[in-house]
This record gives sequence, structure tokens and C-alpha cells, in this order.
Amino acid sequence: MARRAIVREPVRPDQPRTGGGGNAVRLAVIEMPSVMQDPTHTQMPHDPLVTLEDVSFARGSRVIFDGVNIEIPRGKITAILGPSGGGKTTLLRLIGGQLEPASGKVTVFGRNVQGLNTAELFAMRRRIGMLFQSGALLTDLDVFENVAFPLREHTHLPESMIRTIVLMKLEVVGLRNARRLYPRELSGGMARRVALARAIALDPLMVLYDEPFAGQDPISMGILVRLIKQLNRALNLTSVIVSHDVIETASIADQMYLIADGKVVESGPPATMKSSATPAVVQFMQGLPDGPMPFHFPGADYLTDLIDGASP
Ligand SMILES: Nc1ncnc2c1ncn2[C@@H]1O[C@H](COP(=O)(O)OP(=O)(O)OP(=O)(O)O)[C@@H](O)[C@H]1O
Ligand SMILES: [Mg+2]
Repeated sequence: MARRAIVREPVRPDQPRTGGGGNAVRLAVIEMPSVMQDPTHTQMPHDPLVTLEDVSFARGSRVIFDGVNIEIPRGKITAILGPSGGGKTTLLRLIGGQLEPASGKVTVFGRNVQGLNTAELFAMRRRIGMLFQSGALLTDLDVFENVAFPLREHTHLPESMIRTIVLMKLEVVGLRNARRLYPRELSGGMARRVALARAIALDPLMVLYDEPFAGQDPISMGILVRLIKQLNRALNLTSVIVSHDVIETASIADQMYLIADGKVVESGPPATMKSSATPAVVQFMQGLPDGPMPFHFPGADYLTDLIDGASP
């Protein structure tokens, strides 16, 4: 079933106008282009949208993942928790096909990501909204143009429709009236919401959030938490949140995975994770400094390093 959208179009002199005023526009219903449609709507509602099967990945000699299995169910919010440097951003890059696993299989929207050619990979990425860890707004463009950017890059929509879509997305995040501000004029929380509007500009099937709450005050954090949940429901999205903010993430996730030392330590709904007796889960869920998860990046021990004047 094709989706439709209402747009404002300039009128030619021979066309009827909307209302009797002097506005040289009319409202028109147009078919959304295929990039805006959900090509998997025929799938079963609870198919996993993404699966990682026995995935391993290393950076040089450093093993980041060692036989990881993860399922991202359609329509749900899945949280992937893990310590800093544990591989959360890497995991999102494996899902997006920017990185390839050394072994194992990553399946996205029913396709093995490694088997996709460049055009198929780009088509897959167009259906994934990404909220980058850094926010990554384009500093030379205002809020409107930042949200319009993926529409201009990936579609040939008329300007009137781009305007409608951008305003709709900005309305959702409460920043329609901030559309002429530049990134330097935004607070951190506002910038994150603009990035969120941009992530959903192409009506993705799935949104990947990389540390959406990092560096936010409690009010912005609360707004973002509610927004992610509302968007997931209202837009029938599938959301993946990678984060080390346990409380916020647990408050909206349907299921959680804890990754540490390259493996999935435990997974389940937030309540199960909170009551887990597994030491690494207890340490992480309660933010305890001591436990199986190390604070230090692995390598030579401290004393050896101090007395070994030769190494850099
Ligand atoms: N481009 C790269 N080249 C080499 N090593 C990298 C690269 N990117 C990340 N790493 C290493 O991979 C490991 C995992 O990094 P990643 O960014 O996935 O961690 P993270 O869990 O997202 O951390 P954080 O919570 O701090 O964002 C780290 O040890 C990091 O040093
Ligand atoms: Mg990261």
C-alpha cells in the first residue's frame, strides 16, 4: 500500500486555489516515493529485524566481540548496555555494514549484510535512522537545512514536500519554531532533538541511538527518553539504544543486553536484568566501581609501565 502525504504546491493561474485569499498555493495529495515507504510491511510483526549470529570482530590483536548473539525484535526498543570502550558503537557499525565481522553473520531486514552490493547497502542504510554519539549536526546549516539534508541527498522530492516533511519532523521534537537557528545557537538537548528529527527524516524502519542521553541534564534526559518511546510507538519504529545510562535506558527498553569482555553477559527485560545475580550485571546495573568489569584499558600492569622507561 502506497503512503500519501499532503503538500502545498504553488498554483498555476488556471488551477483552483485553496481558500479565497491571495496565497498562490493549493493543497495536493501526492504519493510518497518508494524510499519513504516500508518495504517490509508484509513481514510478520514480530520477526527479528536484526540478528547477530555468533559474531566476532577484532581491532588488530584486540578482540572486541567474541561470538555475540543478539536479536532485535521488530517494533520494540532494545537496549545494548556495556562499559565505555566495550564495543557499543562498533556494534552499530556492524549493523549498518560500515564494518564487517571477522566471522559470524549480521542479518538486517532479512538480508545478510555482508552479501549486499554497494547499491543494496545504501538502500538498507536509507531505511535506518542513526543518531550519532557526537550529535554531528552540520554547523554551516541551520536547523531546517540539517533536517532537510538527508531528504535532499536521498530523494528528488519537490521543495514543497521537503518543507512539509521537515516541519512535521521538527514539530515532533518540539523545535519547529527553532528552524532558523544554527547549531551554535542550540543547547545540547536541543541539538540532540534536531539530530533525532534528522534521523527520522526519511521515515526509517529502525533508529539506532548511540548514547542519546550522554551529557544531558535531567530535564533534557527526561524529554529525550519520552520522545524515543513516543516515536517508537507512533511511527511504528524499531529502536536500538546503545548506552551506559542504565536508569534512563531501562525505563523505556523492552529488552536489554549487557555486553562485556566481547560477549553477551546477560539479556532480558529490564526487570529481569535488575534482579539478576550475575556479578557483572549487578556491577553494571548498580554502577559499582568494583566487580568483574575493569575500569582500565587492558595492557601492561601499572608497576611494569612505571619502571619501564623505554616504552612510549
Ligand atoms: N577506528 C578504530 N580503530 C581502532 N580501534 C578502534 C577504532 N574505533 C574503536 N576502536 C576500539 O574499539 C573498542 C570499542 O570501541 P567503541 O567505540 O565501539 O566503544 P563504545 O562501547 O562505543 O565506547 P563508548 O561508550 O566510550 O562510546 C575500543 O577499545 C576502541 O579503542
Ligand atoms: Mg560509543
